[in-house]
Formats: sequence, structure tokens, C-alpha cells
Amino acid sequence: MSEGGQRVPAGPAVKREPSFYEQWRAREGVPILGGLIVSDLRGELPLRSWARKGVPGAFLGLRGGEQSLDAYVIEIPPTGNTEPEKYMFEEEYVVLSGRGATTIWLPGGRKQTFEWQTGSVFCPPLNAWRQHFNGSAEEPVRMLVVSTAPVMFNLFRSEGYMFNCDHAFEDRFSGEEDYFSGKGEALPNLVWRSNFIPDVTSFTLKDYSWRGGGSESKAVMFEMANNTMQSHCAEFPVGTYKKAHRHGPGAHILILSGTGFSLMWEEGRSKQKLDWGPGSLFAPPDMWFHQHFNTGPEPSRYFAVHYGTWRVVVDYFGAADTSTRTGGHQIEYEDEDEEILEVFSAELRRNGAEPRPLDLWRYDTPPAET
Ligand SMILES: [Fe+2]
Repeated sequence: MSEGGQRVPAGPAVKREPSFYEQWRAREGVPILGGLIVSDLRGELPLRSWARKGVPGAFLGLRGGEQSLDAYVIEIPPTGNTEPEKYMFEEEYVVLSGRGATTIWLPGGRKQTFEWQTGSVFCPPLNAWRQHFNGSAEEPVRMLVVSTAPVMFNLFRSEGYMFNCDHAFEDRFSGEEDYFSGKGEALPNLVWRSNFIPDVTSFTLKDYSWRGGGSESKAVMFEMANNTMQSHCAEFPVGTYKKAHRHGPGAHILILSGTGFSLMWEEGRSKQKLDWGPGSLFAPPDMWFHQHFNTGPEPSRYFAVHYGTWRVVVDYFGAADTSTRTGGHQIEYEDEDEEILEVFSAELRRNGAEPRPLDLWRYDTPPAET
């Protein structure tokens, strides 16, 4: 096992040319952070002026994005704003700090503006115009944006099409006045369908224990702007950890609160230990097992953006909730390596935290059904 986000080879080296997306991303002229994890998106980052957006920014380029989803960070100075933009890839925004407003409009349509703050989540509808404004004269705004740009650029291989297509996707957005009001609809499988989450850090979550962490584990899935991307917010208690599982690439996981670590590993290879706290962002690479551990004094809440919704199937995530006993990709507690519990217990001791007796949480989560 190695500490803290070091790169390891995932397998035999495959030589290929940079993809169309990677070539475009390099031409944008802002830093690409790379690696397995960024320890704090709210802290010091090597942001650089981004001409297209009119504000400083950087691509995350995390290894686990793998030409599937990528992310970037932008910072809007006090009283500043971004350039108006529209494009043919989906985006999901998380406001990391600050407050402000976004104006959205269709070509030739009426502009509408909604306000946001730290913890807000929203998705400008596909190919709609969007412009963001900092509402403070003192504090900068910092936003994380996860996007489908890699897939879209690589499918069409046309920068002109990405930025100059005038099609209005009116089945997603046709200028509805209350589109960003925060209203929503609760659906099966813990789904909340809405176009604006005012504050994901305090959003009321529902019982979600089949991924482990005991009966107090909670989650809600978000489907926004009729996107192909989905996101979810989950929380698990002090002194517990979740079951390992694996799936396709692209899931970007932002820690909202709590401290702990995650183990990530490719089957048969050494485990990578990633320490995290509020503001950490990481992305498990394609089919790497990953497992989250809460070793801090408070519940840990995270927000993850990925493909696959209740109505749009992108089969990166099939079987991630099904036990390996029945051909799936979730490891039951009873089946995991002994070192998992040893590492967790050692980390709890190092933090001076009391482990929660295993029979109070680890064994009240039955193995997953098929
Ligand atoms: Fe996952």
C-alpha cells in the first residue's frame, strides 16, 4: 500500500496519441492538475487566466476521468463575471465557496437569472447560454464543474460543432420561468429530480445501507436538467466504513464534510491510500475497487458526479451494487481482505478515535442480493 495519491501503472503501458479532447484541453492554456486526488479544491491551486471563460481556472484531469468525464475549477473575482458561453456538453456545477448568480438563455430567448451560494448545485441545460456573476465585492467565488466534454469532443472531433451549434434542446429546457426555482420530484431508488439544489451540504438524505456503513448511512441521487450525468450525495457515520465496489470510470467524488481515507486498487495490485477532508476530490479509475473510511469525529458527507440516470442508461455502473458472490462488483464485509479492518483500526487509533463496535454497524448490513 502506498500513501497519498501516488501514481502507479494500471497495467501494460498502451501508447496512443492524445485524444481530440486532450488536444483541445491542452490548447486552452490552463494547468491540468492530474493524479488520483486533489487534497483541497478550496485551497491553493495553480489557477491561470482562462481566455475562453474570462476568469482564472484549471482542469482537474484526474486519472480516473479516463476520457469519460473531466472536471475543472474556475474562480470568479469579487464583482467579476465569466464570459457568456454555450456548448454541446453537459456540465454539473458545485459552488465550493462564495455566492453569486447565473443567467441562462436560449438563442433569441428571454434571459433568466438565479442565485446560488456555497453548497449549491446546478446544471446549465445542454447548449443553453450561461454566464456566471460573483455577487460579492469582497470574496472570490470558486466553482467545481464536472462535464461530459471528453466523450462529446472525441465522438464529434469538431471544436466548431462543440461551440457553434445553434440547436436548442427544448426537451431539456425551453425557457421555463421556474426552471431553477429548486422545485423537484421524488422518484424511486432515492432519486430527486430537480434543476437546482440550494445547498447540498444540508440536503435531507434518505436511508441507504446496502453499500454498508450501518443503518445510519444515507444518500439521495440527483437527476438534473434531463442530463445523461447523475450525481448523488451520501453520508456515513463516525467510526464506520463502506463496502468496496467497482465500476467504470468518470465518477468524481467531492468530500463535503468529515475526515477519513479511501482505498483504491486494481484487482491483484497494491492498494492506494488516499487521505481526505472537506474539499478533497478524487476519481476511481476504470474498474478499480474503492472503499471509503470515516476516521474523524463527525459523519462524512460526499457528493459524486457520474454517468447513468434512472431514465438514461449508460452501463458503466451495472452490477456495482451486486455482490461479488453472485457475479457483481461489491465486496461484502465478510469477504474482504483482513488488512482492510487492520488499516481502518490503525487509522482510528492514530486519530485518537474510538472504533464503533463492529456488531453495531458492520453486521447489520446484509449481503447484497442479485
Ligand atoms: Fe463508486
